[in-house]
Amino acid sequence: MKIGKRLIGFLLAGAMVLTMNGCGNGGGTQTEELKEDSKVESQAEENKGSAGAVEIKKVGIAMPTKDLQRWSQDGANLKEKLEGNGIETELQFANNDIGTQVSQLENMITNGCDLLVVASIDGSALTNVLDTAKASGVTVIAYDRLIMNSDAVSYYATFDNTKVGKLQGQYIADTLDLENQDGPFNLEIVTGPTDDNNVVFFYGGAMEVLQPYIDAGKLVVPSGQVSRQECATPEWSNQKAQERMENILSSFYNDGKNLDAVLCSNDSTAHGSASALAENYTGTWPIITGQDCEITNVKSIIAGKQAMSVFKDTRALADAVVNMITALSEGKEVPVNDTNTYDNGAGIIPSFLVEPVAATKDNYKELLVDSGYYTEEDLK
Ligand code: BGC
Repeated sequence: MKIGKRLIGFLLAGAMVLTMNGCGNGGGTQTEELKEDSKVESQAEENKGSAGAVEIKKVGIAMPTKDLQRWSQDGANLKEKLEGNGIETELQFANNDIGTQVSQLENMITNGCDLLVVASIDGSALTNVLDTAKASGVTVIAYDRLIMNSDAVSYYATFDNTKVGKLQGQYIADTLDLENQDGPFNLEIVTGPTDDNNVVFFYGGAMEVLQPYIDAGKLVVPSGQVSRQECATPEWSNQKAQERMENILSSFYNDGKNLDAVLCSNDSTAHGSASALAENYTGTWPIITGQDCEITNVKSIIAGKQAMSVFKDTRALADAVVNMITALSEGKEVPVNDTNTYDNGAGIIPSFLVEPVAATKDNYKELLVDSGYYTEEDLK
């Protein structure tokens, strides 16, 4: 019966897309009418109220890219844990290409996935395909990055993204002893793309700590680039972060000025910034922050080039998602621990936030090796 419902939903959703394409625009009214007409109830909506059990035999896992080690690990962890629970999976990586991710999701729906776990590339680009999912009775869990402007998203599993930023900002504040020192110290900021909702929280959390010191004149940003938009790195690209830092160094540090700290929102932007510094800067090496504990970056922490990263245990995030799916399939209350923070434009999405931890030269062994996340060998 469920399959029949999904099939009808899928055909109707397909008809909606065709009709919309035929009209040459994506005006919402017609879509809304068709949705009403279809009389296909959304499983996702039912789930929000934690109604009865949902049959979950197959889960589609959509990850943004294999380029960053964390997404490969996220995908592998989820696949292993779900399959261990007897659930079939379809895992896809989209090479950071939005169109590829959309068609992968379409295929997952056609291939009979009952639930989608989606780490979006562009959080605002999935509205139409998730309309199809919803109309087909497929439940959607946003993974790590919030999916915006869609009422098809039932739950969100992520890390405490504000805390990620706060840990980075606090590391800089503590290391420069900004409470007691007048400085001024020079800071530059390298954050992620404007289409990743997480950046709002990473940047916001870090600036909550650092802005008061900027206001007090203890921290100065010589490039003058301080806003989230000015400090963005499209696609989290290592190369683009490097190019921006090269420009900053040649324009604002060509007089021998010291750069004391670079607030980098993640490890790829930290890597790009460090490469620019290695080639174009001769002053005292700055504090560089990061996030993810990518192997290359942990090696760089051990070598004293990157000061810290933020450890986000992808095993714990996979567990959070598996717990959600188990609860859904048993008709139990879905475990969430935040029902205030994440508004995706269509409403607040009940979320489960996993705690991130600051990783430095002093604690990386305990955090990463003793916990079995990496082997000593991986970090050589
Ligand atoms: C994730 C980070 C990751 C970045 C680049 C963010 O949305 O939360 O962990 O470093 O994307 O892939």
